[in-house]
This record gives sequence, C-alpha cells and structure tokens, in this order.
Amino acid sequence: MESFDHYAPGYEDKLRDPLRDRFAGGAQFFIDQKCKIVRGRLPAPAGRRLRLLDAGCGQGTAFAAFGPGIKVFGSDVSLPMLGEAVARGPVVAQEPYDLPFADGTFDAVYAFCIYHHIPDEHHVRHLRELRRVVAPGGEVMVFEHNPYNPVTARIFKRAPVDEGCHMIAPPVLRETFRQAGFDDLEQGYCLFVPEPLQPVLGWIEPRLAWLPLGGQYFVAGRKGSPAR
Ligand SMILES: C[S@@+](CC[C@H](N)C(=O)[O-])C[C@H]1O[C@@H](n2cnc3c(N)ncnc32)[C@H](O)[C@@H]1O
Repeated sequence: MESFDHYAPGYEDKLRDPLRDRFAGGAQFFIDQKCKIVRGRLPAPAGRRLRLLDAGCGQGTAFAAFGPGIKVFGSDVSLPMLGEAVARGPVVAQEPYDLPFADGTFDAVYAFCIYHHIPDEHHVRHLRELRRVVAPGGEVMVFEHNPYNPVTARIFKRAPVDEGCHMIAPPVLRETFRQAGFDDLEQGYCLFVPEPLQPVLGWIEPRLAWLPLGGQYFVAGRKGSPAR
C-alpha cells in the first residue's frame, strides 16, 4: 500500500472510470450523498456551532457540504492532499494514529473511504483514536466501498488510487468498531440511485439502507450513551 502523496496532482481525474462516470458526473456527488447521511445523524446544535472532524479529509471536498451552523476540521497524513484542503477549511497533518486534539473535542467524526488505505492491523488503533476525540455520546461514522456490489467491486479493482488495497466487508468493520470500544453500532448502505435519477428517485435512498447492494456503506458507533 502506497502513500497517497503521488495521487494528489489531478486526484479527481484519477478517480474517473466509465462505470463510475455513468453513475455520477463527478466525485462531488459521492461526497454530497455521504454528507447528507452524516448531517442526518448529527446531534441538535444546543446553542453553538457543532464541531466535526473529517478524518482522512483528503482535499477537503466535503467541508462545504455542512453549511454555516457546523464547523468542520480536517486531518490527513498526506501533505500534498492537504495542500488542496487548506483553502477549504482548517486542517491538520496527523501522525497516522495520533490526532493533535484533546479528548472529546468533536460532536461527531466521519471518515470517507480511508480505512482500505490503512493496514488492517492498525484499524482498531486508528478507530480508538477517533473515539478518543469525539465527545461522550457522539458518533464516529466510517464509510467504505461495498464489496457486495459487483459494480463497485469492479471499479475498485481497476482504480489506480486503490492499487494494493482490498475492500472491507461490513461485518469486519463492525467487529473493528466493537474492538475499539464503541456502543450502539448501526450500519447502512448508500449510493443506490445514480445522479441523473436523483430528482425523481432520490427519496428512495434512505429506505434502502438495509439492502446490501448500495455502492458504499457506513458503520456508525457511539461513544457511551447518547448525549441528550
Ligand atoms: C481515497 S482518499 C479519500 C479522501 C477523502 N476522505 C474523500 O472522500 O475525498 C483516502 C485518504 O485517506 C488518507 N489516509 C491514509 N491513511 C490515513 C491515516 N492513517 N489517517 C488519516 N488519513 C489517512 C489518504 O492520505 C487519503 O487522503
């Protein structure tokens, strides 16, 4: 598994694939669909801006999806990827398994498609660190490619940025959450409806979260009991 640094120049072009391009016009669609799910799981604002961590934020393309009531911080191990993100929001270069934030800093943490770039034997350690920086009662949400979707599996296999990586099955990721000490695990599949069909069929997405055929899936885990 390679460092992500050399994928940074022209990153979006490196994601292009004829099958993927038929599903959506660009990478932003995939990000926006996942941000919608994250937004739907956030706690109520409680008189201040919510603080989110985008772990493995890459070029920071998710930051703008959250609007003014939410402050998003990004972290990544790749300085060249962060080079694009700095113009989009506050970011830190992290050590692979250590974040420069105090315990409980964030109301929620999410990670989009980063765990298949982290060696398996370090998943629990990485996730424990995400758990450390989320507030008691807050959630960590990890999104990954869905290995049960044959189209996703095909695109993944030939994607230059995923060379040397393997997909993570949902039960494996759930077990990682358990080992990292999370409570209240939830899982959902997403990215069923292609971008051109969203205006008419987008409403069906959340209703299909149980169906293991979405392009990606997430596992969410809570740190302790819900903060209410
Ligand atoms: C496929 S990119 C996804 C970037 C972004 N989340 C997105 O969806 O556009 C994977 C990112 O994970 C980052 N990454 C790899 N190992 C990491 C680690 N241990 N901690 C944080 N980020 C990591 C890479 O540098 C890269 O930016």
